[in-house]
Formats: sequence, structure tokens, C-alpha cells
Amino acid sequence: MALLPDATYDDPAVLDGFAPVPLIDISPVRGAPAERAAVAAEVAAALEGIGFMMITGHGVPQALIDELFAVSYEFFTLPLEEKLRASSPDHNRFQGYAAPGQVDGAQISERQSFNVHRFNTLEEAWASGYPADCGTSIHPAMWPVRPAAFRDVWRRYFAAMEVLGAELMSIVELALGIPAGYFADKIDRHQSALVGNYYSFDIDSGREPSPFRFKAHVDDSALLTILYQDDGPGGLQLHQRGKGWRTVLPVPGAYVVNIGQVLERWTNDKFVATPHRVLRPPETETAPRLSVPFFFKCNLDAVIEPPPGLLAEGEERRYPTITGREWAQRTHRNDYDSPLAFAERAALDPLLQTT
Ligand SMILES: [Fe+2]
Repeated sequence: MALLPDATYDDPAVLDGFAPVPLIDISPVRGAPAERAAVAAEVAAALEGIGFMMITGHGVPQALIDELFAVSYEFFTLPLEEKLRASSPDHNRFQGYAAPGQVDGAQISERQSFNVHRFNTLEEAWASGYPADCGTSIHPAMWPVRPAAFRDVWRRYFAAMEVLGAELMSIVELALGIPAGYFADKIDRHQSALVGNYYSFDIDSGREPSPFRFKAHVDDSALLTILYQDDGPGGLQLHQRGKGWRTVLPVPGAYVVNIGQVLERWTNDKFVATPHRVLRPPETETAPRLSVPFFFKCNLDAVIEPPPGLLAEGEERRYPTITGREWAQRTHRNDYDSPLAFAERAALDPLLQTT
């Protein structure tokens, strides 16, 4: 997550109406070529324009989403001491439970999160072909003991997100007019993250409340962010190019999908990584809120450069080639609030020291 330093982004009062985020039923993509092409055209228009879309027909059973939210609410309302047993022993806030105030430094005070990644253990990552020194780029899982179903439900939901992420990337191929299957061997050992963000007003982290639950930022580490959020209070807003901050109205049953900077770069800026932020609701709206983004990432050894057929005749490349791992290192650096935390991490990862 890259925070945007522009002071004009920091005024919660700035608002320019509602965001025209397209609502796209992607289910016809599983049909005839003409139907696939029609979905791809809608997706291309959304991602070249506003950089966000809402999708229905995604194939994720509502019952699974409901299970995910039920076990997550149950976990987040456990006593703090119990939740802390599922936190990282080396205080890595991207692994397992992150307590209020640990999540974003001074940025917000009232978010707790739970984080899991593709691989349960480093051994699983090595077995998939990653080198022995991949440890600082891959976060083994930390699972809570309670609720008893938590791990099973989160793993099943994670698997559903992998399927949806891969399907969306196949639509992206069609939308970009590049060869079908181009991304397949670049996402088959992805190191994606599923994050539960739980907000409530009954948390005292000892920090001053911010007008934001998430300050203005662009998603940088993921190809796609696939977000499901409940109807608790909270205001997602995006900054539409040439316009201003606009509220994204939630649609029940639909995922909010936006692209990250890595896909913007990969597409030579054809797709847009759009800045967004989340306002803090007034304290009179006391209901807690859970939002669960899935950050679908590429393989660490994927080569990020314009795909064949992407660039028009004479069109110039805007970025040099970079690997997924180099990109992950760059985004980790953005994510770490504290120089000390980054120094500690760099001491463990020789590649971080040289870039
Ligand atoms: Fe974001």
C-alpha cells in the first residue's frame, strides 16, 4: 500500500458525489466466445477508465461468504489476550492477528486485522519451487485455536478467491487483447494475501482518532484487490481522474474489484490504479464493520513487462522489466511505517539491502 502524501487528499470534507463504478455480471464469461468478448469489453472500459468495478456472477457461494464473516466476527470479539496468541512471534503485522494500533502506525487507531497468505509454512513454499531464501517474502500462517472452524473456513474462502482471481486474470487477458493464458504461469505460485479488517469504536489503542479508517492510497502489491465488505458503517471513496473524491455505494452480493500498481505497470498504464480512502463514520454509528480484501498477487519470479501484443506500433514502454519479488520488496518498503522495522527486515533479506 503506497500512501499518498498530497495534502489535498487529506481533507475528508472534499466530496464530489457518487462514483460511477460499473456493475458487471461476469458469469457470461463461462459461455460462448461472443459472450466472453462482451464481458471483456465491459471490464476493459471499467479498468481503463475509473479503475474500479463491481462484479456479480462471480461464483463464490453466498453461504461461504456468510461463514467467513461469522467466524471472523467470532474471532475478532474474543478477548485480546486470546487473539494475541495468533499474532506473529516476530511482530510481523502481515502474519496472523495484528492488534489495534499495530496495524498502521499512527494512521488509524481502531482497526484490528487478521492476515493469511498462500502458503501455510515455508516448507510449502519451498515445495512449490521457491528458493530457500524466500522466507522474508513469504509469511507462514498463524491460526487461532478458536473459533474451531476458523482455519477451515478461511482456507476454503482463500481457495475460492484463487479461482476467482485466476478467472478475472483470464478476463483481463481478453480485455487487453493479449494471448489467452499469458498470465497462467505468472500466477500459479502466487503469494496472495487475505486480510480481515475489523473496525469498532470500543477499541482503545491509546492513539488519537483519525478522520480516516484508511488514508488515501493506491494498492501497489496486488494485481487485483477483490473486496467483500458488510453493510457496517464506513465510507469507501475513490479519486476519479479529472474529478474528485467520490463515494462508492456498496452493492449487496457484489465484490468491489480494483487494480493495483503492479498491473498498471504491467499494462504500460492502460489499466488505472485508482487512489481510494475510507472515511471514519461518526461515533453515533456504533456497529462494527468487517471488510475482507483479497490481494491477488503474481509469482515472486514472474517477469513483469508488457505482454506480447499489448503495445501498439511505435508505443514506448514506460517502465523497465522487474520481477515479482523485486516488486514485493519495493512494496514492503512502502508498507513499513518504521525505518527500524525495515532495517530489521532488510537484515534478514540480502536482496532488500541492495535495492
Ligand atoms: Fe486499498
